[in-house]
Order: sequence, then C-alpha cells, then structure tokens
Amino acid sequence: MKLGVEALVDALRAGELAILPTETVYGLAADAANARAVAAIYEAKGRPRFNPLIAHVAAVTAAERLGGFDTRARDLAEAFWPGPLTLVLPATTNCMVSDLARAGLDTVAVRVPAHAHARAALSAFGGPVVAPSANRSGRPSPTTFADACEEVGFAAAAGVDGGLCAVGLESTVVSVLNGPVRLLRPGAITRDALEVVVGPLAEAESDARRSPGRHAAHYAPEAPVRLEAEAPRAGEAWLSFGRQAAGPAEFALSPTGDLREAAANLFAMLRMADRLRPSAIVVAPIPPHGLGEAINDRLRRAAGYVG
Ligand code: TXA
Ligand code: MG
Repeated sequence: MKLGVEALVDALRAGELAILPTETVYGLAADAANARAVAAIYEAKGRPRFNPLIAHVAAVTAAERLGGFDTRARDLAEAFWPGPLTLVLPATTNCMVSDLARAGLDTVAVRVPAHAHARAALSAFGGPVVAPSANRSGRPSPTTFADACEEVGFAAAAGVDGGLCAVGLESTVVSVLNGPVRLLRPGAITRDALEVVVGPLAEAESDARRSPGRHAAHYAPEAPVRLEAEAPRAGEAWLSFGRQAAGPAEFALSPTGDLREAAANLFAMLRMADRLRPSAIVVAPIPPHGLGEAINDRLRRAAGYVG
C-alpha cells in the first residue's frame, strides 16, 4: 500500500481504492463517478449492494453540483460543514455520483468532512469521493489507521494515516427532501444541535427506509455484547463509564463521564476488548442525552438488539 495524500489521489484517479482518514471514522474511498471502483468497495466490504454510499466533497459549491439545496439544507450546511453531518438531498440531473453508489435512488448523500488530510485529498482530486466506513460489513468502524488496514487493507492501493479519529462515531445522516427534515442515523452532530438550526426533527418513517441497510449485527465484535452492565462477571471484558479502569479487562470509555471522550473511544475499545477473546463484552449504562443517543444506537446494533 502506498502512503500519503498524493498516492491516495493517484489511486482514486486510477480507479483504485484507498484508506481515507476523516474526523469521524476511517473510510474506504473510491471515485464516486467510477462504477467499477464503487463495485470494488462493495466487494471489499462484503456489503449488500442496496446500501447507498456517502459522497464526500471539499466544499459546499461542489456539494451543490450533486444535490438540490433548499433553505433548510443551506442552513444545515452553513452550521455544520465542514464536519460530521451528512445530508440526503434530491440528486441533480447531472449528479456525478454513480447509480451504483446511490443504489439506484433519486437522492444522494453528501458530506464535507473536516479532517485536514481528507480536505487536502478531496480538493486535489476535485470530484466526489464515496467512502463508507473502512470495515468489513457488520463490524465496528475503524478509528485508527491500523484498524482500517486490518479490516480492508487487502483491497486498498493507497492510504493516509491521519491519526486517531477525533470524533470516533459516524456522521449524523438527515434527509432534506419534500416534507420535514428527518433524522436517518443519529451520529456525531446531536439532535439538539440540529434542532437549533431547523426546528423539531421528524423520525425516519420506518427502519427499512431510515438508512437502507442498517441491519442488526452492525458494528459487532466477535464476542457477544451485553448492555447496561454495572459490573462484569468472570471471563468478561467490561467497557465502563465514569470510572478509572481497575484491571486489564476493563476499558474506561471515559473516566470522567464525558460523552465526547466515550464516543471517540467506543469502537477502538470494542476492538481491544474483543482481542482478549472474552466470553462476552459487557458495557456500562451510557446516558441517553446528547452524543449518548448515537453511542447507544451503535451499542444496540453491536448487541444485535435492533432489527
Ligand atoms: O462518518 C461517516 O459518515 C463515515 C465517514 C467515512 O465519512 N462514512 C460512513 O459511510 O459512515 P457508510 O457508508 O458506512 O454509511 C452511509 C449511511 C448508511 O446508513 C446509508 O444507508 C446512508 O448513509 N445513506 C447513504 N445514501 C443514502 C440515501 N440516498 N438515502 C438514505 N440514506 C442514505
Ligand atoms: Mg459503516
């Protein structure tokens, strides 16, 4: 694998795949306009084809060539881009994102990431870049370059080590189509922050239409996951919250009870706990407010509670 932003851009131009750091999680990137490259992403991830991908661009002007912005979408972009918010918009007639990447839908998901390396790569490449999280389908998203390489390194011609992802959870996905703004996937931008800009959010109509492809056993480690655990039993690994780790099988998501810190540590600690080959990974209760909504969403999926 070739390393560096220039090598990454060359790989995208050649229709190859690359590991792209973002502030949320690492992505497995390809030229969004190249259907063969997009097909290679689905193949590498082992991902069902009906799950559409997010197009990443360097600036709002580039996003406007892909999707139609009404005033609500414009306000959201102004408030949160660059950053961890994805907008699902009506696709423009000359939208460069391939049908395959959009799973045949007449909408397109767009985001302008904040990570410096991602921005440099997207500016140099020029066109939209699809980048689903760089994990095999159903597994936790990678938040370090090493974890991304372990998951999908075999399929990538290039990559950039952008360090530990500052946010650690995927972007929030909202649709801004006809009708109310809908929350399709809770994420790094909280519901409260969105509602300050666009007023009360509507819920997704049903889980199937919510964000296609959000099945149970997403974000899942090898070990079974049990939630709301105040303490582990023998042989179990524990993701605790609001206390210091007291032994080698305890991973403190945030000793001080800070939800941001817990979000940033979540996927990396699920992986570390899993490497101990415990009988189960048990997780302390996480408060539901703010970023806790997205953390609990990922945990319920890791535990297989959400269908
Ligand atoms: O933070 C992130 O968003 C990361 C980083 C790498 O940018 N990417 C990411 O991509 O999480 P992915 O492919 O794992 O998640 C894309 C989500 C899925 O839930 C998908 O169903 C939804 O976005 N999505 C994409 N296009 C959509 C569309 N047209 N309508 C509804 N949902 C869509
Ligand atoms: Mg993913």
